Amino acid sequence: MNADDLVGELAGRHIVLGLSGGAACFKAAEFCRALQRAGATVQVVMTEAACQFITPVAMQALSGRPVYTSQWDARPGNNMAHINLSREADAIVVAPASADFIAQLAQGRASELLPLMCLARPAERVPLLLAPAMNREMWAHPATQRNVAQVQEDGATVLGVAHGDQACGEFGDGRMLEADELVEEVIAFFTPKSLLGQRVLVTAGPTFEAIDPVRGITNHSSGKMGFAIARAAQEAGAQVTLVAGPVHLATPRGVNRIDVVSAREMHEVTVESAQAAHVFIATAAVADWRPAVEAEHKIKKDGSGAVPELAFVENPDILSEVAHGQRAQAGELYCVGFAAESQDLVANAQAKRARKGVPLLVGNLGPATFGRDDNALVLVDDEGVTELPHASKRRLAQQLVAEIARRVSGASA
Ligand code: CTP
Repeated sequence: MNADDLVGELAGRHIVLGLSGGAACFKAAEFCRALQRAGATVQVVMTEAACQFITPVAMQALSGRPVYTSQWDARPGNNMAHINLSREADAIVVAPASADFIAQLAQGRASELLPLMCLARPAERVPLLLAPAMNREMWAHPATQRNVAQVQEDGATVLGVAHGDQACGEFGDGRMLEADELVEEVIAFFTPKSLLGQRVLVTAGPTFEAIDPVRGITNHSSGKMGFAIARAAQEAGAQVTLVAGPVHLATPRGVNRIDVVSAREMHEVTVESAQAAHVFIATAAVADWRPAVEAEHKIKKDGSGAVPELAFVENPDILSEVAHGQRAQAGELYCVGFAAESQDLVANAQAKRARKGVPLLVGNLGPATFGRDDNALVLVDDEGVTELPHASKRRLAQQLVAEIARRVSGASA
């Protein structure tokens, strides 16, 4: 995920960032900055143990606010930091959350300000998010696993853990997520769950049709729109499968990605995955034709100046086949097509919607959008034409997912 993609997404949110003791406190400094870049205001609260790893001075400088470390802090007029801080928050995020801190929460202990504040928060409107960070043995210990299960049952959301190198030199589960990953998790947490329980299938990117082992034909699709849609659907609570042609994009968090190369591979994987999906969004720029024969060896120049003759055959139309399939026809699978046009967007989109047999067709001007981070979309369905004006692909993906969710819930209501 490009850090710029997160800018402004938490505008207006006030996050109380709690730090308990652990080497991952250095990541909390980056996390604090990343939250602010995303538009949030951040109030830091640290345990005594956290102060062994990073100073309140550093966290004050980064957050721009005095840090709270003690329930006996006399600055608040009512001398009740634990009440005041928790009631101002849109969420309390504890990163790192140590094994001991989680154990305290599980027992409802209030030995110092941070656990006291978590206990005293109005749980129905101030969510608690925990990003555990600890050695793999501590994480795997039955006591920790019991405590983690308990705090989740009590309403906390656990972010991570990650797998990899640990500060202690060991390798395994228990690492804290990276700062940007945590910000993504917080953004996802605040996203309305309009697709909760839905299985969403997305195709994205170009396909590559081989001519010989070193050459082929493809197109300029970057896959950005499809990846943004997969991410937005996942954040909206869907279980997402992303069938991706050859692109250089990071997999959105929590999304099941299946890489393919040719249209035929994309066809096979998609038709199979569509059996279990509730929504299918076809954003891929699938090559319409492939070379009739793929040469086994590289086609060589023979020196005569003769050029190879290429013959083509048509690729399967994935969207059309799925949309005309039994599940889509029975109303169990809602299909959304994309149209990349170079002119007459609405007329072409309307014609394509009828031809592909889909309830919703999304038009965009292909050559103007390939590879870019922004776009404009036109939605064509039974309701008529809805324009989503020029915006980032991220923003458009969020809007499109909301539009699809509205139609899907309307259909099942
Ligand atoms: N599509 C598909 N399989 C194909 C071709 C297209 O699933 N073999 C899907 C695309 O993912 C998109 C929609 O069909 O959702 C329309 O793609 P587009 O390339 O715009 O349309 P074509 O069917 O290729 O029509 P034309 O070339 O006439 O514009």
